[in-house]
This record gives sequence, structure tokens and C-alpha cells, in this order.
Amino acid sequence: MNDNIRNTAEEEAAIPVREPERQYYYIEKAKRYFEQMCEAAGRPLTFCVTTFGCQMNARDSEKLTGILERIGYREEPEEEKADFVIYNTCTVRENANQRVYGRLGQLGRIKKKNPHMMIALCGCMMQEPEVVEKLKKSYRFIDLIFGTHNIYKFAELLAMRMESGRTVIDIWKDTDKIVEDLPSERKYAFKSGVNIMFGCNNFCSYCIVPYVRGRERSREPEAIIREIERLTKDGVAEVMLLGQNVNSYGKTLEHPITFAELLRRIEKIDGLKRIRFMTSHPKDLSDELIEVMAQSEKICRHLHLPVQSGSTRILEKMNRRYTKEGYLALADRIKKAVPDISLTTDIIVGFPGETEEDFQETLDVVRKVRYDSAFTFIYSRRTGTPAAAMEDQIPEDVVKDRFNRLLSEVQDISAERCSRHTGTVQTVLAEAVNDHDDSLITGRLGNNLLVHFPGGASMIGKFFPVHLKECKGFYYLGEIVKE
Ligand code: 5AD
Ligand code: SF4
Repeated sequence: MNDNIRNTAEEEAAIPVREPERQYYYIEKAKRYFEQMCEAAGRPLTFCVTTFGCQMNARDSEKLTGILERIGYREEPEEEKADFVIYNTCTVRENANQRVYGRLGQLGRIKKKNPHMMIALCGCMMQEPEVVEKLKKSYRFIDLIFGTHNIYKFAELLAMRMESGRTVIDIWKDTDKIVEDLPSERKYAFKSGVNIMFGCNNFCSYCIVPYVRGRERSREPEAIIREIERLTKDGVAEVMLLGQNVNSYGKTLEHPITFAELLRRIEKIDGLKRIRFMTSHPKDLSDELIEVMAQSEKICRHLHLPVQSGSTRILEKMNRRYTKEGYLALADRIKKAVPDISLTTDIIVGFPGETEEDFQETLDVVRKVRYDSAFTFIYSRRTGTPAAAMEDQIPEDVVKDRFNRLLSEVQDISAERCSRHTGTVQTVLAEAVNDHDDSLITGRLGNNLLVHFPGGASMIGKFFPVHLKECKGFYYLGEIVKE
């Protein structure tokens, strides 16, 4: 542990050893420092959490926000104006790191003008030792650095920084701990992400996640149910169950249960209207899960099923542990059991050794499955992963050409898939006032498509029957059907 602060023996004895009590103790402590800081500044101090990367990070940021608001900080949406800026970083692709360094330089200049300003960095990038070395050397103005495994200690680390006035750096290599019942703030009143597991054991050869998020750990089903029950009492209608590989949920529990069984239990929660989940690994998707999806009233008709490549040869080098034929057969089984399902995917182009023939296999899968949408990525060589050391890295111009061809195929198919609902009436959850036109509301169908329709802010968080009048490629314009 950091030795920036030395407490008296008496103070030490008053600090709870158990979690989450320990963190609530430090929230109170940080609160007292925070009040002094506001007094010195002569104004209430503000914070801004900037999230990079996936929904897992978005959920972590809500936890950071919950703690900061308890301490007394007010949220400031504009980063440049905030007194405490926290970057929750992602490191899945190399350029994500470069973006963070660029923005940090800018923040450093702002900090010079604001003596009350603090900067914290956390998230996946901090689990890479080279990154922390670079930050220590070239970005000395950073106040607090912590990683993914000890994010639950945010209040404690922040209190340390406030007390010592010195940079606090605390990164753990791994953990088997899950701390429940910490404060958390939701970005939306009516929907929420819910972590069901952390980490990943799959070691796909291109992916840094298992190294920065550690081994797979599942939350106890009772803790998940309790959290969702609380959320629904608080007005949440939709939950997104989060994990790197939700299909292997529960395997490491003392009393193992399957993901399908967890879904059955969540389905029974009164007041909950919609259940989503991500991400599913094709190799672990069971027939039991397909059956539960087919029978469920609440599980959304949407499945994100990353294929990564259509070539069995490349899939093997990626360590994905399924074949092209196995994936296609799985997609067919799902479509048969849940005919109205939307399938979406992730695809990587330009993995080491990928030939034009391999790429054609990927296009073949895209044409056969007909994804409702697909996230397409250019392969990024992540230091520390097995694929980074593979021979035959593909030249940039070849990858770009393949990427453009894939994108155009994906977009044509997704426009066609989207248009199949034209003229139908669907249940839509109103999510926000439209960014460009405040006479419109933006809502989401169960299958994840967006629809804009006339309405006002008071409708947010409620469900409406909406007539889908016009398809605009990847979203709809619609109108509420009056009863
Ligand atoms: N390069 C490109 N894309 C990657 N992904 C993960 N690692 C890499 C990498 N090194 C993509 C995968 C994954 C998604 C979240 O990010 O497609 O499913
Ligand atoms: Fe990365 Fe593969 Fe784990 Fe997904 S399943 S997080 S791609 S290693």
C-alpha cells in the first residue's frame, strides 16, 4: 500500500477493515477535505468523468460518479471547466492510447491555470506497466492513478491524495475480490447496466482484455437479483447484463449456475420490462440459452455474437475455438428458435496472415448471416498479445481496401434488414429528446433499432406503441399510435 499518509494508531483502529464499510468511511473522510477545498477555492468544486471504450467502462464510470457525488462534487459536463477530471481509459486498440496522451497534454495546460484542479486516470490502460511508467515520467501533473482491479477503492485513494497532497499511484496485477453495495449513480433513470461478471479467460490471441481485466469472476446470483430488484423499485425498466463472456457466467461460483438459469430468475422480477446482455462468445452459447430466449417475454430480440473472422484458419490463429461452419450453424439455430431476432457482430480485418481468400470467407459469413449491424475493426497490433508477435502482419493499404469492401457490404445488408419493419407498429422505450430537433423523441425498439418520433421530455422512460413510417437506413422516423 501507499505510504503517503501515516495515521496515528488511534485513527488506524477506527478504520473499518471490511468492505464496503471501509470505503464509506473514506467517503466521509474525503467529504471533510472536499469542504476545505471548496472553501479555499471560494466556490463549489466540480468533476467530469470521461469514459473511453466499452459498456463495462461506462458502468464503472457510474460507480466513480456515485462516489464523487456523495463526497459533494457537482457534475460539470464540459471537461475543460471541471476541477476534477477523471479519464476512465480503454486499451483495446493502440490508437485509443494515443488519443488519451493527446488529450492529457491539453489537460495539463488547463491545470496550470486552475490551482484547484485534479486529474485522475484509471481503467484498462493503467494495467499496462509501460503506460504507468510513461505517465510518471512525462505527465507529472497527474494526481491519482489506479487500475481496474482496485476501482472499488476509489474513495480511499482519493482521500489519500487529498490528505497527502502528493500523487497517489496504486495498480494491482489481479484480484479475486468482488465488492458489493458501493454507491453508484445512473446516467439514465430508466435503464442501467448491471455487471454479472468481471474479467475474461479466453485469451483470443489479438486481445489485451484478459491481461488488463484479469481472470473471470462471476457475481453471486443473489447479489445480481438484489441489485436489479432495487433498480426496478427505483424506476428502471431495462437492464443490460454486462460481462466479457456472459455465456460462461456462473461456472466459477461455489454453487455454479448457468447464464440461462440466471436469466430465468431475472425474468421473474416484477416491474422489469426489458433484459439485454452482452457480450456472447459463440463457443459457449448453449441450447438452453436459445430456449430461454425463445420463451422469454422480457429478453430483447437482439443478440450480439462477435464472429471476428469467417475463415476457420484465421479463427484458429485467433484462438476463438469455433469454425466457420460451427458459427453458421449456431446462427441458424438461433434464427429458427427466435425468428424475429436481430443479430449483430464484431469483425476484425487484417489479422496477421489473413489472405484475400480468408477475407472472402468473412464476406461469405456476412452475406449468409445478414447481420442487422456490425462493428468492423482494423486489426490493431497490441503489444503483449500473442498475435503481435506473429509473422505476416498485413500491409496497411491491403487492410484498408478490405475494410472498405467489408463496410460497404455490411451497410447494404443492414439497411435492407432495418427496412423490414417499415409500416409495423412496435413497442418503443422513449430514451431522450432528439439531439438535433427538440420536437422529436429518440426511442429504442427491443431489437436495438432507433426511432425518432414527435413528443416531449415528459415521455422519457416510458413505453409507447410507435408506427414505423420511414426507414432511414439504420434508424426510423415514426409516430405514436393513438389508442
Ligand atoms: N484489434 C482490433 N480489434 C480488436 N478487438 C479486440 N482486440 C482488437 C485488436 N487488437 C475488437 C474485437 C472485440 C471488440 C470489442 O474489439 O472485435 O470483439
Ligand atoms: Fe477479448 Fe476474446 Fe475475452 Fe472478448 S472473449 S474480451 S475478444 S479475449
